[in-house]
Amino acid sequence: MKEIVLSGIRATGQLHLGNYFGALSKFVKMQEEGIYDNNFFIADLHALTTHPDPKILHNNVKSILSEYLAAGLDPEKSTIFVQSDVPEISELYLLLNMHVGIGELMRTASFKDKARKQLGIKTENDNDDNIEKEIIGTDSNKRVNAGLLTYPTLMAVDILIQHADYVPVGKDQEQHLELTRRFARRFNSVYGVEYFKEPANFNFGGAPVKVPGLDGSGKMGKSEGNCIYLLDEEKVLRKKVMRAVTDEGPQAPNSPMSEPIKNLFTLLELVSTPDKVQFFTDAYNDCSIRYGDLKKEIAQDILNITTPIRERIIDIQNDEEYLSKVVRMGAEKARERAAKTLEDVRQIMGIKRFY
Ligand code: TRP
Repeated sequence: MKEIVLSGIRATGQLHLGNYFGALSKFVKMQEEGIYDNNFFIADLHALTTHPDPKILHNNVKSILSEYLAAGLDPEKSTIFVQSDVPEISELYLLLNMHVGIGELMRTASFKDKARKQLGIKTENDNDDNIEKEIIGTDSNKRVNAGLLTYPTLMAVDILIQHADYVPVGKDQEQHLELTRRFARRFNSVYGVEYFKEPANFNFGGAPVKVPGLDGSGKMGKSEGNCIYLLDEEKVLRKKVMRAVTDEGPQAPNSPMSEPIKNLFTLLELVSTPDKVQFFTDAYNDCSIRYGDLKKEIAQDILNITTPIRERIIDIQNDEEYLSKVVRMGAEKARERAAKTLEDVRQIMGIKRFY
């Protein structure tokens, strides 16, 4: 039996280059290597913790699903499913919550972050004590929803219900994975069983990919002016890259690079050939570099990658029949293992039926 890999992306909008290089392209690689039993899903229930808009939720799910498929995930090789198509997840989430502490959830970094956002508190000048008081003291029209607090329980359930061995996720998800392991151990020890296994992060070897944004600092995210979507049209994409933040240019040979320039080189390394990287590095070092030329190359080489993907995304999005076939197949496979796990857990917890 193959070891089980599981990962998911929240359905909060279109995927950008950071998602592509950081997650999706790695999923495809794992699929093609064929070593593991691969499971990739779209976390629409998790999206509800911050993006509860019934008018856009389904479209967000649909675009990620199409992006998965366009990038090369293949329903014949991987299990591709939508989280809400597996109701067993929601039931196990309720059961597992009985063994999760409010305190440990409140101490989770992602919770503190997002809770502050929901309350409209600036992150910098606030300490942890205040956030707890703020949360308890808020009235009901300015609230932190309980789903946000129990986000890690739901993620643990995604993983444990499939008995995943490996969970390829970025650094920002490490803490959630650590909680998942803790919940698994706790469940086992409370009931005196060896039921859940502790999932490991999947290390692809080498340094993790960091895809920088276009605004000069930090990684690519969804904020304005920083981000390139797989679905960006050629014109829009070129414009975004040409507007990326730079500096006044190297003032002396072999000077160190400022962060915005380092970021552009990191992008170049991701999308171009080593020759080109060497060419522009030399040009930087002898001060002959023209940032406009560098950006043109970056834009073109990004387009070489995204254009065929974009065309496939559009085709797939318009093929409702195919999409429905894919998710139906995925749900069936995901539910099979989930139903078995849920039944086991009910037995272990002493929930017995009279009929
Ligand atoms: N929390 C993850 C993120 O924001 C998404 C996610 C939800 C996930 N459930 C998961 C990732 C289970 C891996 C496994 O990126």
